[in-house]
Amino acid sequence: MKTLGLLLVAALALSGSYAVDKNNFKTCDQSGFCKRLRGFKPEKSQYTLNLDTVLVHGNVLSAEVNTVDTSTPQRTVLWHYALRLSALVDGTFRVEIDEADPLYPRYRTQLALKEEPKADGLKLLSNENGKLTLANTQGQKVIITAEPLLLEFVNAAGEVAVVLNDNGQLVVEPLRVKKERIDDDEANVVDVQEEEGTWGENFKSHHDSKPRGNEAVSLDISFPEADHVYGIPEHTDKFSLHTTTSGEPYRLFNLDVFEYDLDSRMAIYGAVPVMYSHGTKRSAGVFWHNSAETWVDVVNYADSTVVSSLVNLVTGGQKRRVDARFMSESGIVDVFVFLGEKPADLFRQYTALTGTAPLPPKFSLAYHQCRWNYNDEDDVRGVDENFDVHDIPADVIWLDIEYTDRKKYFTWDHLKFPHPAEMVANLTAKGRKLVTIIDPHIKREAGYFLHEDATEMGYYVKDKDGKDYEGWCWPGSSSYLDFFNPVVSKYYAERYQYDNFPGTSKDVHIWNDMNEPSVFNGPEITMPKDCRHYKPPQDGNDGLAAFWEHRHVHNEYGLWNIRATHEGMLLRDNSKYRPFILTRSTFAGTQRYAAVWTGDNAAEWGFLAVSVPMCLSLAAAGVSFCGSDVGGFFKYPEAELMTRWYQAGAFQPFFRAHSHIETKRREPWLYEPATTALIRDATRRRYALIDFWYTLFYEHSIDGLPVMRPLFQEFPAEEDTYTIDDEYLLGNALLVRPVVEPGVTSVKVYLPGAASRTLWYDVDTYHAHHANGYLTYDVTLAKIPVFQRGGSIVPRKERVRRSSALMADDPYTLVVALDINGTAQGSLYIDDGETYEYLNNKHIYAKLTFEPNAMTYSFIDENAHYPTRSWVERIVIAGIKSPPKTAKLTQAGKQTALQMTLHKGNDVLVVRKPAANMAQPWTINFTY
Ligand code: NOJ
Repeated sequence: MKTLGLLLVAALALSGSYAVDKNNFKTCDQSGFCKRLRGFKPEKSQYTLNLDTVLVHGNVLSAEVNTVDTSTPQRTVLWHYALRLSALVDGTFRVEIDEADPLYPRYRTQLALKEEPKADGLKLLSNENGKLTLANTQGQKVIITAEPLLLEFVNAAGEVAVVLNDNGQLVVEPLRVKKERIDDDEANVVDVQEEEGTWGENFKSHHDSKPRGNEAVSLDISFPEADHVYGIPEHTDKFSLHTTTSGEPYRLFNLDVFEYDLDSRMAIYGAVPVMYSHGTKRSAGVFWHNSAETWVDVVNYADSTVVSSLVNLVTGGQKRRVDARFMSESGIVDVFVFLGEKPADLFRQYTALTGTAPLPPKFSLAYHQCRWNYNDEDDVRGVDENFDVHDIPADVIWLDIEYTDRKKYFTWDHLKFPHPAEMVANLTAKGRKLVTIIDPHIKREAGYFLHEDATEMGYYVKDKDGKDYEGWCWPGSSSYLDFFNPVVSKYYAERYQYDNFPGTSKDVHIWNDMNEPSVFNGPEITMPKDCRHYKPPQDGNDGLAAFWEHRHVHNEYGLWNIRATHEGMLLRDNSKYRPFILTRSTFAGTQRYAAVWTGDNAAEWGFLAVSVPMCLSLAAAGVSFCGSDVGGFFKYPEAELMTRWYQAGAFQPFFRAHSHIETKRREPWLYEPATTALIRDATRRRYALIDFWYTLFYEHSIDGLPVMRPLFQEFPAEEDTYTIDDEYLLGNALLVRPVVEPGVTSVKVYLPGAASRTLWYDVDTYHAHHANGYLTYDVTLAKIPVFQRGGSIVPRKERVRRSSALMADDPYTLVVALDINGTAQGSLYIDDGETYEYLNNKHIYAKLTFEPNAMTYSFIDENAHYPTRSWVERIVIAGIKSPPKTAKLTQAGKQTALQMTLHKGNDVLVVRKPAANMAQPWTINFTY
């Protein structure tokens, strides 16, 4: 099996034809609950709210909901449910529907929310004619119709923005006891036949025992007058989601999909069930808080694929509306509704619930060099040195699985890596770091401490019979730690202590891969759904109530894994240093612990192109720290593709080159010198902007807004931007249009903001363009279009060195791009780059403003200071129409006259050597 697996991987990596084996993964029809729910007809049973049971207490309305059999005149009650509607701060509502008295507790996702959401007030305004009207303290309302149950959410402008159950697709399948009877000769117990698949399903050679039977949930969610919906990563489809009626729904189920497809709604490594609607009328959003396998159907009534009879039936002919339908295998209905006015409000509301990425260590925003594998210490040394020889900056070298002693994590291959501490010291001498991989599967080998401890102490996930589950992964026979048990997570966290993982230090960071989890011989290459996870012991928790099944928790398994890693990395140095973790599996809340990359792509133009919508979608779902393998993981990128990928990667949040073990080596210096030069240039551009990136991530940690933004976030009224996903904004200052097509000499670029007369300056020439929609822009092999927005100030460091750490004290060039009023603003964040001291006011968060008469640098956090030695060596003012005659710097009471040079050709004024120290505020006054 082992050889077979590796051979397969190797053969496919080398072969020219790249294609996913769809047979390994279920279609909706092959997934029992998806098929069942898609075929569900609401006419037969209806959910109705019992108005006599309504109780409003604090911020919560609770009421009983019943299903009634509509086919009988007496409308027999079939089942009882409990509904809770909570008003939360910030225009957010939560709706939970659980069985009133379930046979066993149903799983409630545990780790997605960063904390218990904060309550707003909720008032019952009226209860008449079978309708309840409620309001929070901010004027947003909920109108609940009792029969059939319908919830309408009204935003502050008085418009219905979200409707739940308009299409009657609410379903909560009740948990039941398996019915059995004694057969005729009264000797044997036999199953009573129920709908096929209720008590077990098969897929290929795998049987899922489904001991709790069917327990699916579903709900339809409508966005009246919306033009588009976005979100629910991770898929390779467009950023704006498609109508799914004539094909497969979008699937959310964390899977290790070998050679994943482009333009696909198939599940891959990540699943973040948040969706946003947007249009010229309004925006809204929902977060489906559920960690089980989920499928999502989308109908955009404006799509030509939606037949007019359906448009008429649902919307009465109104084409502006999008409906979504979430279907999950288990759990409860738990949905958050966001009534923010604008896309930015929604993104913020979502991260307010699930958390923002904490400020990463600065090195992690620089360039990373990875390969499966750097073979030994000599190889690492060679790669490290070659960056210097070729004058290419790099911050991190990565070690993939081969560094271990035969795939036993937390160990080293002592022949290839006999002196890890020295190897690391060699890197850190240049300000560089090491990242090592630690996967969650544990090699089942006698004598391996981790396996022995886990076996002895019962730390592994159990199979359906309660024995340690055994699957197959890189080490061969493997078991998987059950992080749901706090004792296991603690034990695992302690493995990261320096003593327990010799050779590591604060400069060694961690890559958690394969954590969907990937199981080579499991159903759909993952863990069987009837495996058992820890559940805290409670009275009466016996039988099926004593554990959670993997089906309940699957999509958050990786989150438990990285949470334990994060804990361990804090523990190893008493929370002094900020950890960096990269994860492949992604769920809601992942951003609190780790960066994400888009997994095993290929050296093909389509994969370069899709890196943009994939990261945009993840960023909208809270995961701003995203990137794709630069160069493509499988196959070999020829020079042009490699060049374009570096140019694109340099402007994406996580910038790492990586490649498959069987592919040809492709470090930058292995190409022709001309290509190496282009890669050098792209990488150096990243370093010149390192403080800009760092400032963006600091601001993200405070406001939760995506670092990499869709155009419509900043220009929500501009319809053309709604479907643009081949360009994006970094913060609100830079617009990036990577070149993702071969052999082109020009590309189409959209410059937004015509209505506000926005100017966009080409960052290479400072040439200003008036926003006016699409234009054709010339490119060369050395150029991708990047523009700075008029009205912004971007900090740069132009003395690029071997690593970002070596640039810490370097001087700044401040690029001021003027708007049509001749003004601009920006910000700058500075700290030590690696510790938590910034939380004790040891940082600078400063505002830069330019008005025709003065430029100022002042502290936003007035109590915070950092003794930076950096100073301003140059101020470049682009778009200056009437240049000032004099410039005078005032800092700490001292005044200095400054020199300026005017470049007439492109209206650029350079203030030379202001030499202002960035540790203190300053002002430069201009006279005309
Ligand atoms: C799968 C990951 O996606 C890839 O990046 C890595 O190189 C291999 N596992 C080996 O660890």
